[in-house]
Amino acid sequence: MFGKRSDTGTAVAAPPRAEPAAARPAAPPPPPISSDTVAPPPPPRPAPQAAPAPSKPAARAISDQRSEDYYQIKTTIFGALIDTIDLAQLAQLDPDSAREEIRDIVNEIISIKAVVMSIAEQEHLLQDICNDVLGYGPLEPLLARDDIADIMVNGANRVFIEVAGKVQLTPIRFRDNAQLMNICQRIVSQVGRRVDESSPICDARLLDGSRVNVIAPPLALDGPTLTIRKFRRDKLTLEDLTRFGSISPAGARVLGVIGRSRCNVLISGGTGSGKTTLLNCMTAYIDVDERIITCEDAAELQLQQPHVVRLETRPPNLEGQGQITMRDLVRNCLRMRPERIIVGEVRGPEAFDLLQAMNTGHDGSMGTLHANSPREAMSRLESMITMGGFALPTKTIREMVVASIDVIIQAERIRDGSRRITKITEVVGTEGDVVITQDLMTYEIEGEDETGRIKGKHVGTGIVRPSFWERARYYNLDRELAEALDALQQ
Ligand SMILES: Nc1ncnc2c1ncn2[C@@H]1O[C@H](COP(=O)(O)OP(=O)(O)OP(=O)(O)O)[C@@H](O)[C@H]1O
Ligand SMILES: [Mg+2]
Repeated sequence: MFGKRSDTGTAVAAPPRAEPAAARPAAPPPPPISSDTVAPPPPPRPAPQAAPAPSKPAARAISDQRSEDYYQIKTTIFGALIDTIDLAQLAQLDPDSAREEIRDIVNEIISIKAVVMSIAEQEHLLQDICNDVLGYGPLEPLLARDDIADIMVNGANRVFIEVAGKVQLTPIRFRDNAQLMNICQRIVSQVGRRVDESSPICDARLLDGSRVNVIAPPLALDGPTLTIRKFRRDKLTLEDLTRFGSISPAGARVLGVIGRSRCNVLISGGTGSGKTTLLNCMTAYIDVDERIITCEDAAELQLQQPHVVRLETRPPNLEGQGQITMRDLVRNCLRMRPERIIVGEVRGPEAFDLLQAMNTGHDGSMGTLHANSPREAMSRLESMITMGGFALPTKTIREMVVASIDVIIQAERIRDGSRRITKITEVVGTEGDVVITQDLMTYEIEGEDETGRIKGKHVGTGIVRPSFWERARYYNLDRELAEALDALQQ
């Protein structure tokens, strides 16, 4: 044990309470931090309650039930711990040993200070303190939950989560904005980035793959704002989406044919509508022997194939240099002998390169894009190319779009919070200057049930020979396509 404990139980001279270093290579998960991670103000609750298990999910059960006394005790013990422990040495330990070390010291402090606590409370306290010192503090119980899709922290006192499609306020609090900022800094330093007043916007990834965005003051007026898209360990499949009612079985069959016959696909939808999830599902139809290259801003896709190269963009450094854009990645891809190119999100001039790639032998490429309808997706693509500085006539751009994109799949988060695939639309061609698209399937809302859940159904539009028919036939999937389209009509 290396703690600098005093024999009397009162804390010895405190080590300097430095803010955490930007990156501490020796301490795998986040480096230990100083006393500013002390307990958040208490949520209202009569008395601490026992909940035995020390596991992370147990912390969730009690996180909103702690009393003022508990937080006072925690603050005292935390202060004594910080005064006692040697943070630099702690940083050298692996997380399990560091946890053990903290537990030993905290247990000792509890007995020296003669704090009266039940075993269960003591266990919670130990866990809480370990989270504050080694982990992401008040965020830890939320990160441990698998049912949360997003965590949204709007300054120290407002933490929202999205569960089952609904956004709700939690009782989780940070002690103050400094503690929150400290945690944001620790998160982004894990991927070698930093966030502070001079570079207040930062994208990062947690070690588990969750996507993180931080925007700090002075840009965020009410304190550091942290948004985490939680990584799903059990990645959703098209079967899951069918089970949830996001798509009908017949619709899923059509999507299967689209994937297997190497159509070029754009997935369109609003924020958080399920685009990346759907893209991931569609990649399941890629053969195992194909060379796939993915380009993303923060790697989220979880492809199962063995031959995948994952690329990630890079923001500029503090001097404004070293940026690698999505366009750089997509262009570089073309020199990497890809068979399929997957672009996490198309949002700028890379649209041009992706379309070119789709058009030149990399069929079966896919990407997502923010748009509220397939038609809007078409015009967004066009404006991305125009704004990218390509001096091409509108007609040429439209022809290029039509020649490249086969199908647009529209994802939507509808008003009851559930996600639905609301359209499968094919791009047919141009008539004069106009791009012609045709829906194969749409989602029709029929009403609400007594719980407020939207009732609706996926219906076929009666198209029996979509324009990718020949392509499906080439892959021997025409029969399957005909049957799936037929089933859509039932
Ligand atoms: N069909 C679905 N049913 C239930 N949950 C879903 C479905 N599709 C996606 N989700 C969940 O919704 C959340 C958002 O999904 P996803 O990341 O795919 O959205 P997105 O449109 O890519 O968001 P963004 O615009 O932020 O990139 C995730 O937690 C995901 O697991
Ligand atoms: Mg996404």
